[in-house]
Amino acid sequence: MSHPVILGVGYAVPDNKVSNDDLSKVIDTNDEWITERTGIKTRYISKDENTSDLAVRAALKAIDDAHIDPKVIDCIIVATLTPDAMMPCTAALVQAKLNLSHQRMMVFDLNGACSGFLLALQTVDALIQSAQVTTALIIGSETLSKILDYTDRGTAVLFGDGAGAFLVSSSSNAHPWTHFVNTQGDLEDTLSTDGLSLNASLKNIQGETPYLRMKGQAVFRFAIRAVEDAIRQVILKSNLSLDEIDLIIPHQANARILGHVADKMNFPLSKFVMNMDEFGNTSSASIPIAFAQAKAKGLIHKDMHVLLVGFGAGLIWASSLIEL
Ligand SMILES: CC(C)(COP(=O)(O)OP(=O)(O)OC[C@H]1O[C@@H](n2cnc3c(N)ncnc32)[C@H](O)[C@@H]1OP(=O)(O)O)[C@@H](O)C(=O)NCCC(=O)NCCS
Repeated sequence: MSHPVILGVGYAVPDNKVSNDDLSKVIDTNDEWITERTGIKTRYISKDENTSDLAVRAALKAIDDAHIDPKVIDCIIVATLTPDAMMPCTAALVQAKLNLSHQRMMVFDLNGACSGFLLALQTVDALIQSAQVTTALIIGSETLSKILDYTDRGTAVLFGDGAGAFLVSSSSNAHPWTHFVNTQGDLEDTLSTDGLSLNASLKNIQGETPYLRMKGQAVFRFAIRAVEDAIRQVILKSNLSLDEIDLIIPHQANARILGHVADKMNFPLSKFVMNMDEFGNTSSASIPIAFAQAKAKGLIHKDMHVLLVGFGAGLIWASSLIEL
């Protein structure tokens, strides 16, 4: 049976880098508070690139990294909670911008919030194993700044824009990946966006932005439980032990969450890849950005066991264990 193998990775962020000090000019906050509570120092906020534009830039880097002809791609999935529009799906826009519109392809968006990229990875694994797809672009891309309420200092300081991409191909020699996912839907109001109004008035509704809302401490408590659970469950499903994990690439929400998990699991924090200091929380983009940046820094090598772990709105938590 064929399994997926990662051929290339890439990431892209907007040019506009915004520091905590920059934010403190428009919000009642300060660098010390944000750094201490989250580990975040800067984030990128898009001025003119939408989710599909960032996705395309990340995808081109992944294609370049893979050294393949993009004409072999037969699937594009964009994990996002901030699509360019409700329709068409961002993945179709990406296909067009990559000039791949005239080849047979399955494309769709997937919204699993901050776990979205891992849900897309798990989906592609299943599509490859069932021989429906041979070569897939899996992209996490967000322009979260579109849905941030800049009067809410509890959320506006946490998030940033960006995209990360994996180019994955079917191989008969690849090591199988192990996955875990779980959801607790009755906690949906812990982390959500404002809903869009129903409209029986037959008059247009103007200017509704579905702003992001969060119960910070509840999410914090959930995240600590969820990250540990997702790590333990995926290891249990594999034939490996925790000691054999070379690197953990977690969703980049908050350095303190990861510090708590590392302590509780007695696992070295140095094996967690962290870059939220530069990018903030980019939701579905954070894991592929962290992976691509770690690879560019030479931290990722063949035969390593890399564990990806995500958590966020849904509430959904997920993990994938990949032997490279
Ligand atoms: C958001 C988070 C950093 C807030 O930290 P906290 O310790 O829970 O802080 P609280 O919300 O209790 O607020 C404490 C105080 O700081 C203030 N505060 C909140 N945001 C602030 C900011 N950006 N700057 C300065 N002060 C701020 C609050 O108003 C409150 O002030 P008060 O004591 O005078 O009422 C923390 O809850 C967290 O990280 N949660 C997880 C969030 C997350 O990761 N979400 C994404 C998951 S995918």
